[in-house]
Amino acid sequence: MGYQDVYDSWKSNPEGFWMEAAEAISWDKKPSKALSDLGDHMYEWFADGMVNTCYNAVDRHVEAGRGEQTAIIYDSPITHTKREISYVELRNRVANLAGALRAKGIEKGDRVIIYMPMIPEALEAMLACARLGAVHSVVFGGFAANELAVRIDDAKPKAIIAASCGMEPGRVVHYKPLLDGAIDLAEHKPDFCVIFQREQEVAQLVEGRDFNWHGFQYGVEPADCVPVEGNHPAYILYTSGTTGQPKGVVRPTGGHLVALNWTMKNVYNVDPGDVFWAASDVGWVVGHSYICYGPLIHGNTTIVFEGKPVGTPDAGTFWRVISEHKVKTFFTAPTAFRAVKREDPKGEYVKKYDLSCLDQVFLAGERADPDTIVWAQEQLQKPIIDHWWQTEIGYPAVCNPVGIELLPVKLGSPSVPLPGFDMQVLDEGGNPLPAGELGAIAAKLPLPPGTLPTLWNADDRFRKSYLTTFPGYYETGDAGMIDEDGYVYIMARTDDVINVAGHRLSTGGMEEVLSGHPDVAECAVIGVTDQLKGQLPLGFLCLNAGCNREHAEIVAECVKLVREKIGPVAAFKLACVVDRLPKTRSGKILRATMVKIADNEEFKMPATIDDPAILDEIREALQTLGYAKG
Ligand code: COA
Ligand code: AMP
Repeated sequence: MGYQDVYDSWKSNPEGFWMEAAEAISWDKKPSKALSDLGDHMYEWFADGMVNTCYNAVDRHVEAGRGEQTAIIYDSPITHTKREISYVELRNRVANLAGALRAKGIEKGDRVIIYMPMIPEALEAMLACARLGAVHSVVFGGFAANELAVRIDDAKPKAIIAASCGMEPGRVVHYKPLLDGAIDLAEHKPDFCVIFQREQEVAQLVEGRDFNWHGFQYGVEPADCVPVEGNHPAYILYTSGTTGQPKGVVRPTGGHLVALNWTMKNVYNVDPGDVFWAASDVGWVVGHSYICYGPLIHGNTTIVFEGKPVGTPDAGTFWRVISEHKVKTFFTAPTAFRAVKREDPKGEYVKKYDLSCLDQVFLAGERADPDTIVWAQEQLQKPIIDHWWQTEIGYPAVCNPVGIELLPVKLGSPSVPLPGFDMQVLDEGGNPLPAGELGAIAAKLPLPPGTLPTLWNADDRFRKSYLTTFPGYYETGDAGMIDEDGYVYIMARTDDVINVAGHRLSTGGMEEVLSGHPDVAECAVIGVTDQLKGQLPLGFLCLNAGCNREHAEIVAECVKLVREKIGPVAAFKLACVVDRLPKTRSGKILRATMVKIADNEEFKMPATIDDPAILDEIREALQTLGYAKG
């Protein structure tokens, strides 16, 4: 069947389509139906099935005789380490860790925060939680103590599993002081912490609260898999919204298993036993779905890569890993390719490696610019597939479904909606727009299995964020269009979320931090275009009346403050002092207009602007930072 047949078969019978896909999952009790309509546009999938994620990702492969197959390859050019873990070893390691967690009181439904770098133990911690039916929430290692504290207070974990440190090029990231700082800041306190001591740094443990990863597993009974309901939360993953309070995206167990497993063949074109590599981080949704769960559920070999596209040690790292480990499908962010292209535009490193194992490359996380796609096509001579998704959705929604059929590639478009997604472009009143017209990108409800049923402990925020603007649709927060062939084009965000090096960040969150500086009266943060990272945050600061300190000093303090409160990953390094911010007469800051000025794009003077002269001041300030040069 081609793409259109598969899409039509879903559309004509969604229930049958997903029940059939569910056959590939090993259920303790099969679900009697796929969809449950809870009313008020809330839905659940496979709610009355009983199932365990860890069993499907690990144990079942061992029982099926594939125990000796490599489950995880750890390749760390930063620490010069390589290691392989077979499915049977993984089962034993995870069962022991789960047993030790259970012995300390972790049960089904308890939350566990995981704060770990790209080491196999991060996946083991996730799987051990899944084994017990505990709900993990992985926090990205580039986030500061304050961000970790916000997540501790929201998820209220009984335990936190962390590593002693992370490794960035040229610097050890001291995780333990960040963890201790976060626990001090948070109102909620975990019962205990488990610390994985890395060779590169041994952290000090807090007596009575912290346990050593190895020591606390000594002499415990390994734990079996605990079956949970299909609608039981598998994990919570926090993502940026418009404010500093992140959204706790809930991932439901049954739909997650069914949908991820379906994508491994139909989207990524791999069969069990093939090597699949997503060069992302376990702290992001790509890491959850395609470093940990997807490949393992499907019986693939996954790669945990602790390194960067360039500098660890050079721009040939990706090609070295692909050729050495026989990667069939590779997934990365466009920004990573831009970094490689900048260092090796002619692909000298590509020529050094045998890449005959590689069949296709997928890009996501931000818009894939045509230059980067064309460069990759020329260098690799393989299909380069842009695809679109979000933390909330958990897997691709718009994609060229290579495993079903490689459709013609249209540069600038992630291609077509996958089964489960009825994508529409809507006007402000929620009416579908004709082909080629720009509007808000939305998906008709219900969303398919595995997508977020709600936000953690925040049903109202869920409805307000996603369901209220366009009744009957899920609002993606992206704007774009659909062409006459049904190809979707994603052009911009409709909210204050920006995308920096494939990392989703909230400008509102940064503004909240900047407002905390004693000399800042008012501020605005915008995302300006950057050749490497796609976007970079840039802050405008209005100072309190009477403040006569050096502007450079205040700017430096603000840069430091964002790094301390949000983390280095925010990459907040550009800021300037201005007298006033451009606003509408009702007081709304004209951020989109400022972005256009910074990026030298044409713009219409907003009809409601209070004082157009301010825009000249903004342009001058941007020019001092190297933007708006015209
Ligand atoms: N733990 C601690 N700090 C981290 C971190 C982590 N896991 N990840 C990044 N950081 C820090 C970096 O050290 C850097 O700190 P610095 O300001 O002291 O230099 C800062 O956060 C910004 O990091 P990064 O965004 O990685 O930028 P970079 O300039 O170091 O590297 C790229 C640029 C393009 C090579 C890099 O951004 C990259 O590999 N991007 C791909 C992103 C990706 O795969 N995203 C997944 C989306 S699917
Ligand atoms: P995240 O939740 O971190 O995965 O970020 C999701 C957002 O990243 C989307 O809403 C888009 O704005 C952007 N995004 C992800 N993939 C793509 C893509 N292929 N093309 C354009 N934008 C993308």
